[in-house]
Amino acid sequence: MLRRLHKDQPESFAFTPANQAWAEAQITKYPEGRQASAIIPLLWRAQEQEGWLTRPAIETVADMLGMAYMRALEVASFYFMFQLQPVGSVAHIQVCGTTSCMICGAEDLMAVCKDKIARNPHELSADGKFSWEEVECLGSCANAPMAQIGKDYYEDLTTERLAEIIDEMAAGKVPLPGPQNGRYAAEPKSGLTSLKDHESDKPEHNASVHLAVEIGDTIKRIDGSEVPLTTPWQDRSDTKGDAEPGRGPEVAKDVPVDETGIDKREAPAEEAARPKYSEDRGETDTQPQSDGENTRPESLDGPRDGKADDLKMIKGVGPKLEKLLNSLGFYHFDQIAGWSDAERAWVDDHLEGFKGRATRDAWVDQAKVLASGSETEFAGRVKKGDVY
Ligand code: FES
Repeated sequence: MLRRLHKDQPESFAFTPANQAWAEAQITKYPEGRQASAIIPLLWRAQEQEGWLTRPAIETVADMLGMAYMRALEVASFYFMFQLQPVGSVAHIQVCGTTSCMICGAEDLMAVCKDKIARNPHELSADGKFSWEEVECLGSCANAPMAQIGKDYYEDLTTERLAEIIDEMAAGKVPLPGPQNGRYAAEPKSGLTSLKDHESDKPEHNASVHLAVEIGDTIKRIDGSEVPLTTPWQDRSDTKGDAEPGRGPEVAKDVPVDETGIDKREAPAEEAARPKYSEDRGETDTQPQSDGENTRPESLDGPRDGKADDLKMIKGVGPKLEKLLNSLGFYHFDQIAGWSDAERAWVDDHLEGFKGRATRDAWVDQAKVLASGSETEFAGRVKKGDVY
């Protein structure tokens, strides 16, 4: 199926401050040099924010992860979960059109969509509330025919039931996901013939439906009202610093965090205030300073002899960060190699949207190698074209 960027694109994209903080925290989950692994959650968040994935959003995410735009576009255009064109403001209906569903009536379901929403897939309904498309197998073949609506599956559909679901959603309701013909899960239509021991005490809904009901975000997009997500791999705080009980793993009581025997909650305040990402990477002597003693490093008005070094040879520096560094007056490896701790901390504080990167990715150490004319393992891979 052809998936292309939409012909009409907005001028720009920016995460909301809360989403930006969330996205930056996601990136810290991955080891050095593997930041591109955060591509799917970041693209998803951008889509949740905007409703669909715009070209500026894809490029912004690519910049944040130091990826070539084409690599980010490959991901965005591969997965059906990413919508490359505007979708209905209430719901986008993805009808499975693969074998089992097709045999069991997927074409009839699509006829309902054509009738109630729009003649063509990816076309908005007249009121802008709905859109639809045919997708490939969604892995729920035993409950064919089915459709994914928002984040949940509606299974064992009939034309009548799908029409009702659309009407209910238009009226502001969220119909119960899962099998729509009375089946509990994927057991035979006539009921279980074996493994019937716990039939009487099974929960009201199967696990997927139970979770959908519990989360309750089937067709709801992030709108700023949701509980802040935690970043437990950094510490127990969420991105706004007001941890939500019950979200993220608890720190075990009385368990020493390391060989010092100090419980995480007993660590000195200044330790707790440190960005945990540095600790995670085993950096013990490169914490950014935030005490006002940071010093602006000497900068240049332009590259010497008009030729700047390729700062993207430094792991963690992508095209956007290179541009940012240049705008701050840094063009050469030897400039970065010469930063003192206070200077590096100043730079970290001025990397808008990327604060802490110079420390986290040990730019100074990398730059020292590159300024001496040697090559880091990462720079070698960049030269070979192995880094995207
Ligand atoms: Fe429709 Fe697999 S064929 S879910």
